[in-house]
Amino acid sequence: MMPADPNLRVVTVFGGTGFIGRHVTGRLARRGWRVRIATRSPRDALFLKPNGAVGQIAPIYTDLGDDGSVAAALRGAHYAIFLPGVLYERGSSTFQAVHVEAAGRVARLAAEAGCQRLVHMSALGVGKDSESAYARTKAAGEEAVRAAYPAASILRPSVVFGPEDNFFNQFAEMARISPALPLIGGGKTRFQPVYVGDVADAVMACLDRGDAPGRTYELGGPQVYTFKELLKIVLHETRRHRALVSVPWGMANLQARVLQLLPKPPLTRDQVTLLKSDNVLSGGQPGLAELGITPTAAEVILPTYLWRYRPGGRFADREAEA
Ligand SMILES: NC(=O)c1ccc[n+]([C@@H]2O[C@H](COP(=O)([O-])OP(=O)(O)OC[C@H]3O[C@@H](n4cnc5c(N)ncnc54)[C@H](OP(=O)(O)O)[C@@H]3O)[C@@H](O)[C@H]2O)c1
Repeated sequence: MMPADPNLRVVTVFGGTGFIGRHVTGRLARRGWRVRIATRSPRDALFLKPNGAVGQIAPIYTDLGDDGSVAAALRGAHYAIFLPGVLYERGSSTFQAVHVEAAGRVARLAAEAGCQRLVHMSALGVGKDSESAYARTKAAGEEAVRAAYPAASILRPSVVFGPEDNFFNQFAEMARISPALPLIGGGKTRFQPVYVGDVADAVMACLDRGDAPGRTYELGGPQVYTFKELLKIVLHETRRHRALVSVPWGMANLQARVLQLLPKPPLTRDQVTLLKSDNVLSGGQPGLAELGITPTAAEVILPTYLWRYRPGGRFADREAEA
């Protein structure tokens, strides 16, 4: 029998099928490490396999609510990465269950399994006293992780952009089909969008660097924009001329009350609450620079995927059919 390669690392990624997860998985595979994708649906994770050599990326069914299932996903893993998060609640997939209980369970069982590193994905603007349940439970999740695995590295990104993102794609699609875009709360909320490639690099740096364990990093891009400025960028990149219509907070809440009934709601009341606070770096925590990463400008990346929403772009076929 060949002796085991001492450099071969095994990494368990929870949430590896998601937007950020697929970029993290690609980087882990390029290192030649063995990547275990802990997922609710191994079949839906098969698209990740071509990122690695035969057998290098292995989806494993995992119930985040079950100790035995999570322990099995972590068995023999050198590193664990926790990415799951929800923007709205459905059935048993509640903020409390995913952000707090699952995060705490993975941290506790990663410690028990002897994982050398744990990287936990939180979000910018979390706070125990926030009016938003998303932000409150993310804060409680951080606490649960720190209590169970004090050396975890915690990452708090602002809104993340990249080809499969939710934010820019959603507004670009809206610009394609609707005569107007909503300036929720007047569009004054400030954001510091960060590139998904930089977030994935930050995860890798947390596995590599000697100074990362036990630290919390805030991740933001090189520039701060208001919500209105971001929508203007979307209109520019999609070459669409649309009205920007101010929607006061009360009206946005009313709309969200209806929209959140949809199977995949574009807006919820909790998100309206989140939008009331700026989502920019506090300045009080280390960030990309301390991880050795130079942030990528949104203007460099957005055109590479928002062109699809332009007249004549890839999604113009749908327009022609309509
Ligand atoms: N995207 C952003 O702009 C942004 C900004 C700040 C913070 N974050 C945080 O970054 C993390 C990753 O975000 P993302 O945008 O990559 O999310 P995403 O695309 O929605 O992916 C999240 C993944 O979590 C897994 N998951 C496991 N249990 C789940 C459950 N009960 N309900 C929903 N998903 C579950 C899913 O994998 P399976 O279906 O394979 O189980 C899913 O692929 C989250 O914690 C999020 O809060 C994201």
